[in-house]
Amino acid sequence: MVGAACTPLESALKLLDTLGRPLHDLRISVTDRCNFRCDYCMPKEVFGRDYPFLKREQLLTFEEIERLARIFVGLGVEKIRLTGGEPLLRREVELLVEMLARIPGIDLTLTTNGSLLAHKAHALKDAGLKRVSVSLDSLEDDVFTAMNGVDFPVELVLKGIEAANAVSLKPIKINMVVKRGLNESSLLPMARHFHHSGHILRFIEYMDVGNTNGWELKDVVPAAEIIETIHAELPLEPIEPNYHGEVAKRYRYQVGGGEIGVIASVTQAFCGDCTRARLSADGSLYTCLFAANGFDLRELLRGGANDREISHAIVTVWSQRDDRYSEIRSSETVGLPKVEMSFIGG
Ligand code: GTP
Ligand code: 5AD
Ligand code: SF4
Ligand code: SF4
Repeated sequence: MVGAACTPLESALKLLDTLGRPLHDLRISVTDRCNFRCDYCMPKEVFGRDYPFLKREQLLTFEEIERLARIFVGLGVEKIRLTGGEPLLRREVELLVEMLARIPGIDLTLTTNGSLLAHKAHALKDAGLKRVSVSLDSLEDDVFTAMNGVDFPVELVLKGIEAANAVSLKPIKINMVVKRGLNESSLLPMARHFHHSGHILRFIEYMDVGNTNGWELKDVVPAAEIIETIHAELPLEPIEPNYHGEVAKRYRYQVGGGEIGVIASVTQAFCGDCTRARLSADGSLYTCLFAANGFDLRELLRGGANDREISHAIVTVWSQRDDRYSEIRSSETVGLPKVEMSFIGG
């Protein structure tokens, strides 16, 4: 139950990490593959033809994912987000959605690049998905294609968003990664386009995830600057978070017509409230987006461990967790080995 007060016994039993953070969200990557090559995530020079993506037998099966999801829910998880790579590339992902949607009381959502959403929205809704977040970095084809690396047109992503809207996979959140010199010029057009649309546009600071995107601090457009730019034309006012630990800082348009968010993980780190665990497509548990290594749950699953043993392993990992990468980011941490975001999910 979100925000419900705990009895003293429940508090004593609550699973907390070394910094007192509970486990609330599970982000499950269902594939490490993507049909885009966004330069901030999977630059095509690195993720080209010969990239060693996971083989089918290395991926968790839907049954294995469901079993782990139920164990995580037993430990306090209330929100499950399916990610990738591009989750809609995983064959019959709607069957997995159907299996997870049967778990009572969870907020089940999915992050997608939108390319296959027009085809899949209906099946996902029927399977029990509640809502989607769609990545879109610009409304201009030349900017968008320069960012997605595969000449994918804006129009088809907008069609995907329309299809999701038509079947009420709502609220729809639109995620725009902002990179200096690439798509700053798209800030206002994006704000204007989604104002009054009912969708929530979120601007994301470009992060140093993985080791391949060549991140430099000078390429980050700080959230404060993004807000200033929008505010100058469409005045904004801050609003309260929806829930404790929400990643996005929310603002609404003073004239009405909806809200936007900024995700300022570089200039205003939010590790103090980070309640997210990540499960890679091959079944390792990562306790930070910037971790180098995960804990292999697939080995336990396939080695015949029972649910109690798996649950115990997760409790051990979480209770030893001390990650706070974004708070301690420096020129030294940027070059440390880190898992790629396409492998553990955005
Ligand atoms: P809601 O459930 O809709 O509130 O989603 P959310 O606000 O958690 O956003 P979402 O899961 O879509 O995340 C949006 C983006 O925020 C991700 O793609 C990442 O870029 C960034 N992000 C999410 N979680 C983390 C995190 O734990 N650490 C960091 N550094 N960035 C994160
Ligand atoms: N910085 C910020 N966000 C990123 N994402 C991927 N790579 C990065 C990065 N370097 C996030 C975006 C995208 C989602 C799939 O992953 O939010 O929409
Ligand atoms: Fe694919 Fe999303 Fe990464 Fe872009 S950000 S390459 S769409 S996983
Ligand atoms: Fe959580 Fe790591 Fe992101 Fe901090 S950097 S918010 S600990 S995932």
